[in-house]
Parts: sequence; structure tokens; C-alpha cells
Amino acid sequence: MEMKIGVIKGDGIGPEIVDEAVKVLDRTAEVYGHSISYTQLLMGGASIDVNGVPLTEETLTAAKNSDAVLMGSIGGDAKTSPWYRLEPSKRPEAGLLQLRKGLNLFANLRPAVLYQELKDACPLREEIAERGFDMMIMRELTGGLYFGKRSTKEENGQIVARDELTYSEGEIRRIAKRGFDIAMKRRRKVTSVDKANVLDSSRLWRKVVEEVAAEYPGVTLEHMLVDNCAMQLVKDPAQFDVILTENMFGDILSDEASMVTGSIGMLASASLNDTKFGLYEPSGGSAPDIAGKGIANPIATILSAAMMLKFSFDLDQEAAAIENAVSAVLRDGYRTIDIMSEGMKQIGTREMGDRICTYIK
Ligand code: IPM
Ligand code: MG
Repeated sequence: MEMKIGVIKGDGIGPEIVDEAVKVLDRTAEVYGHSISYTQLLMGGASIDVNGVPLTEETLTAAKNSDAVLMGSIGGDAKTSPWYRLEPSKRPEAGLLQLRKGLNLFANLRPAVLYQELKDACPLREEIAERGFDMMIMRELTGGLYFGKRSTKEENGQIVARDELTYSEGEIRRIAKRGFDIAMKRRRKVTSVDKANVLDSSRLWRKVVEEVAAEYPGVTLEHMLVDNCAMQLVKDPAQFDVILTENMFGDILSDEASMVTGSIGMLASASLNDTKFGLYEPSGGSAPDIAGKGIANPIATILSAAMMLKFSFDLDQEAAAIENAVSAVLRDGYRTIDIMSEGMKQIGTREMGDRICTYIK
């Protein structure tokens, strides 16, 4: 197969972790007889430095013209980086939001899995970690508070800030369908998370999710309020299969879910539209504090590349080869510093990529 992949290395640890994922993709392509071409794209701070804006029209078009985009991370230190002296709509994060919207990437999949090998890194009590967990957070990505109208203006002598939270039936239905489709391939349970005891948008969310659920009699649906969900994630994460939720709740809950796996450096993600196209990126941020030190964990990006092979190219076997290689390296005791524990062998970013490659044969 010929694959045209756009690559956004981005800022902070982005370039280092993307290099390792590309290495692993190249190795996989070599072993399975595929050919990959890469187009480098600038986004976030890296684009601001060159173009003055975090995302240009040309980059968006180039992204659209590729089969899939692999991304590292964007953004810098909000206190020290000059990017954060720009107005909010010109900062690195705005580029990511424009890219998501511009490519209609409404479905964000964030798997949170506790690897057997990393149980020691799990901050939860031993009997909870022992049970393990494997959930998929399905986050709506192009609606809600992130894309509502905002304003900050003076009213009656004081400054008032507003952010609008809007969801249409159609927006809810399409993400709900994706959630149920994915549940069908997993343990057939959907937990829809909302704040229906307070918000109108959540009451509509619940109604539409129930309508969609009626089309999937094989899937169990439960509703959970977001505050309770935040609690259940640390109390009993094994109960979750698919968590289906709106943009802001998904942002918060996915960080929490990643933390209970032991390291945000392990979590992949995929952002999909209604074609085969997808944007694949680690769930973690750009970690400017450790950028350039060669110690960042590249596994989340490597696993994101595996998701890309699966979702955008239907190469399930190749994706599994990468996932198995990651497990094998962990089983052999190799760890980057973020997941290091006693008795293990600590290695850097590049060695982790190299070692994963050696298992793909
Ligand atoms: C994420 C990030 C982004 C978000 C930021 C960088 C805008 O936190 O992908 O979770 O809030 O969606
Ligand atoms: Mg986030």
C-alpha cells in the first residue's frame, strides 16, 4: 500500500517523539511491504515562528491532501514563551482547534489501558490496579464550549466574560453512533457522561444518545454525571468500556484517565471525521520542561501511529505488530524515566524507538 502521511512535529518534545514514531512506521512498512511518503507540516508555535500564525491555509490544504496526519504536540511554557504574548486566537492551541474544525474531526478516540507491565506505575490502590482496566474515551471534538461564541467586555462597570456551550442534535448523533460502533467491537457497554442535572445541552445529549442506543440493542447504555464519572475513574476504572462525552468533559476526563494508567506518555489518540482520514497524536502535551533532553516517552506517539494504520489504512495486522512490539519492550524491562520503577532498565527516547523496531519482524 502507498500511504501519504502529513507530519506535524510541532513544539516541545514533539519533534523527538515523532521521529521515533516515523522510525517505527518505516520499519513496519519495510517488513510488510508498504511505501510511505511524508510531508512535513508546520503548526502551533513552530508555525508562528515562521508564518506569524499557528495554522496557515496552505498547511490546512496540505493536511487535507494527505491520507492521514501524524502529530507530536504543540504549545510552550505559557509563562516564558513569546507565543503567549499574542492574542488568544493567534496562540499555538488555536492552530490545533482550527485544524480539528477545518478537517471536521468530530470524533476523538482516547484509549486508556493499564498495561500489566506498568501496574507499579499506577497510582491507584493495589487491589484496584490488580483488576486492570481498558477503556475508550470517545470525546466530541468540534463542538461545545471550545467552539462557541466568546467575548470579554465591560458591562455596568465590570468586566464580564462569556463562553457559549451549544450542541445540535446532529452533532450529538454522529459522535454517539461512532461510540456505539466502537462499543460493538469491544465489550458492548457505553457510559454516556453529561451534566443533565444542570445543563440543557446535556439533557439534549442524553435524549439523542438514547435514540441512538435504540439502534444498538446489543449494547448496554448507562448515563453518568460527569462529577460522578471523575470519581468512578479512580474508584473503579474497570467498570468502563466506552465513555462517550462532550468536548470539555472529555478533555478533563481523558487527562484523569491517562494519569491512572501511570503515565500520560503511554496514551495514544485518534481524531476522525466521516472519511478514512484521521489526525493521530499522543494525548499528552509538549512538555517544554524536558524538550530536547532525549528523555521523553515516545510510546504514545508510536501507539498513535498504530491507530493510524488501523483506522485510516485498515492495516490491523501491522497495527498489532506495533502494539505487540511495545508490550515486548516493556516486558523486557525497558522504561523511559516517566514510567521507570525499581529493577527496570532506564533508556532514552531514541533507544526506546530503536528497541521497539527490533521487535517488528
Ligand atoms: C487536548 C489538549 C487540547 C484540548 C489543548 C491543547 C487545546 O488539552 O488535546 O486534550 O484542550 O483539546
Ligand atoms: Mg487536554
